[in-house]
Amino acid sequence: MSVLVTGGLGYIGSHTCVELMNSGVDVVVLDNLYNCKKSSYDRIKALVGKDFKFYECDIRDREGMSKVFENEDIDSVIHFAGLKAVGESVQKPLEYFDNNVNGTLVLLDVMRQYGCKKIVFSSSATVYGMNNVSPLKEDMEVGGVTNPYGRTKYMIECILKDLYTSDNSWSICLLRYFNPIGAHKSGTMGEDPNGIPNNLMPFITQVAIGKREKLNVFGNDYATKDGTGIRDYIHVVDLALGHVKAVEKVRGEEGLFIYNLGTGVGYSVLDVVKAFEKASGVTIPYEICPRRAGDIAICYSDPHKALTELNWKAERGLEEMCEDSWRWQSQNPDGYPD
Ligand code: NAD
Ligand code: UD1
Repeated sequence: MSVLVTGGLGYIGSHTCVELMNSGVDVVVLDNLYNCKKSSYDRIKALVGKDFKFYECDIRDREGMSKVFENEDIDSVIHFAGLKAVGESVQKPLEYFDNNVNGTLVLLDVMRQYGCKKIVFSSSATVYGMNNVSPLKEDMEVGGVTNPYGRTKYMIECILKDLYTSDNSWSICLLRYFNPIGAHKSGTMGEDPNGIPNNLMPFITQVAIGKREKLNVFGNDYATKDGTGIRDYIHVVDLALGHVKAVEKVRGEEGLFIYNLGTGVGYSVLDVVKAFEKASGVTIPYEICPRRAGDIAICYSDPHKALTELNWKAERGLEEMCEDSWRWQSQNPDGYPD
């Protein structure tokens, strides 16, 4: 029996594939290569020391998806495939709703057709919206999202909840990620954004290797200790290990489960800059700029539910996140090879 990993060659998917295979789980990986390189496959393979099945396929391609389920013995799915750039989603809402929401509908329909009713879904802390106060807890009301990307996550959560209500023999786990950063210890896998990075850590690492002149710090007038935004950064390998636990959960039990995957600790933008400088020995020039539209001051998790129910907690601290991000970036200045 295998776990189908959609979007499995991407940033979080690739790290999760390594941890799944290291824990003895068989995987079948699917990706349309829209936001990753095929060489990510080779890097995963080198780390786990064995071959695994890969399908180049779009989750919206019903026929292609059916073939995967026809050919493989798949009992559960981890669903990473999706578009994730907030700013781009404002420019291209139809593309985001089509890829993320329509793609998920096709995936779920094909799963149902093949009697596969176990799924772990990549949701985001963004579903908590602007109004909930941190630490964010799973039973808080979600919605009130400010951009199309976030709305796709919220809509897919609603779809999965409705699906479970209609048929309790499904087993569905919604994982709300906080801010994944860091990279595999080996320095061979990490985050490889296209163009100008939207997120803090890849921007910092590109400043560090000299691809960008300076970091723009979006606002220092928030009600936080140093005025900059506070987030719950989580090491991508800890996040990957959370998926190993979540798959065990959906394989073992029917139900609808929702977990935050975060550390429960918030760091400011300037904390991250300082920690990165310490880990890398490189100074990061920065400039204070106006706030970025849609940002909130403080966002961090209450991570206790995942500890109690999944026996999972994040183990890696900010220093290790920075060291590993830097190792990846400095060893692969241009990301994955073509
Ligand atoms: P990523 O872009 O690196 O990985 C997503 C992968 O999905 C890519 O390899 C891409 O090629 C593939 N993909 C996209 N659309 C597809 C489609 N229609 N069919 C098949 N494959 C498709 O992103 P990531 O950072 O690894 O994120 C994985 C998931 O986690 C996404 O759903 C994202 O929204 C969610 N998430 C990410 C973050 C984050 O900060 N990285 C935070 C919260 C949630
Ligand atoms: C962003 C998305 C969120 C998504 C998450 C992961 C927005 C509003 N939110 O979260 O929906 O789930 O990425 O993909 O885009 N910062 C700077 N300079 C930069 C980049 C960021 O100062 O160049 C600051 C931000 O203002 C924020 C913090 O760094 O305070 C983290 O930003 P980022 O990495 O983009 O993550 P989020 O905004 O938390």
